[in-house]
Amino acid sequence: MANNFNYYSPTEVIFGKGAEQETGKQLKRLGASHVLLVYGGNSARRSGLLDKIRYSLKQEDISYSELEGIVPNPRLDKVYEGIRIGKTDNIDFLLAIGGGSVIDTAKAIAYGLAEPEHDVWELFQHVRTATKCLPVASILTIAAAGSETSKGCVITNEKTGEKRAYDDNLARPKIAIMNPEYTISLPDYQTESGCVDIMMHTMERYFTNGGSLEITDAIAEALLRTVMANAIILHDNPNHYDARSEIMWAGSLAHNDLTGCGNDGGDFMTHKLEHEMGGMFDVTHGAGLAAIWPSWARYVYEDCLPRFVRFARNVMGITLEGTDKEIAEAGICAVEEFYRSIGMPTNMRELGIMPSDKQILDMANRCMIACGSRTGSAKKLKVEDAVEIYKNAR
Ligand code: NZQ
Ligand code: ZN
Repeated sequence: MANNFNYYSPTEVIFGKGAEQETGKQLKRLGASHVLLVYGGNSARRSGLLDKIRYSLKQEDISYSELEGIVPNPRLDKVYEGIRIGKTDNIDFLLAIGGGSVIDTAKAIAYGLAEPEHDVWELFQHVRTATKCLPVASILTIAAAGSETSKGCVITNEKTGEKRAYDDNLARPKIAIMNPEYTISLPDYQTESGCVDIMMHTMERYFTNGGSLEITDAIAEALLRTVMANAIILHDNPNHYDARSEIMWAGSLAHNDLTGCGNDGGDFMTHKLEHEMGGMFDVTHGAGLAAIWPSWARYVYEDCLPRFVRFARNVMGITLEGTDKEIAEAGICAVEEFYRSIGMPTNMRELGIMPSDKQILDMANRCMIACGSRTGSAKKLKVEDAVEIYKNAR
């Protein structure tokens, strides 16, 4: 039966070739007067995108300051640096140019500037909730995290090694500017990690025991099939514009909550388990998800068997006649095969990490603290379950 739901996806999407040229006009319309540009290492500069954005803002007489050097698994110290710049320069609008790490940093700065009397990290510790947030816009250069339309924000406290999420509609970007051409310069590993992340945002919401709606399931299944087909195209031909477009749009739809309508919003334990791997070992998020999912899936599938069977049939194309368990297991194997075919890991060894028993216990404990009362929907997990899942993924 379908659960009640509120679907709130207010981000205006400006999609396609040349979309970035609209930046200045759009920000003017949204009332921006002094913008903080937030970006990562070199990719936005190298592609010429950064210069185009500066030009577009100048055309509209919008002034700006800049914060560069955001790294993957983005760090709290850069958030604080951005808040300091924002206070000094009277920033009233955040513009992220990059991927999830950059957008999440911009969101965190936006929270910090809106309520400067509080430490922004408290949000990620879940000791308070935000009441305000400065407006954020994003110019996306990698299809993956979905932060360009999501309510999510994930920051790593580099001092404690904690990678923590804070979800709030307040931070959903006002606009997302997406030109798939800018994703062509991505290293293959980032493209493929992005595809896994997009799939996982859909699968997290699909594998639940909490209600369902046929239209939501059908959208999720089509999304997953589309991402897999186009990930394979991009693995052979990274310059394929149409495949880039499919993946980029899928990335937003996968995490703007569309595929959570009518179900209970999802399981999300693969994400929670992976965030600890990111916090401890600084692994690429999508690759980390690929490495932990098979172990999670084998641990929980008997508690969520009808969904795993449906997934095997409708997404992975399993035609095998057999018991439900056999069909579900064949579906999990098919996901592993797909990951390998695009160069993604299926366990921690292939990911390049080998946590000790002590590190696994630490990750499991931290994971359950980060989860609070939301410890899964396909199967509710405890610390000892998390330990087993990590161990089986080594
Ligand atoms: O720093 P630059 O030079 O830009 O390089 C980046 C970075 O090294 C590179 N890159 C981005 N666009 C490029 C490019 N290189 C060449 N050409 C381009 N066009 O890609 C690397 C990865 O960037 P990052 O922003 O880290 O990628 P992604 O979008 O995968 O974001 C991952 C982060 O988002 C979080 C993850 O945990 C992780 O910290 N997530 C955020 C979510 C949210 N806010 O809703 C949900 C997700 O589940 C996820 O947890
Ligand atoms: Zn993710």
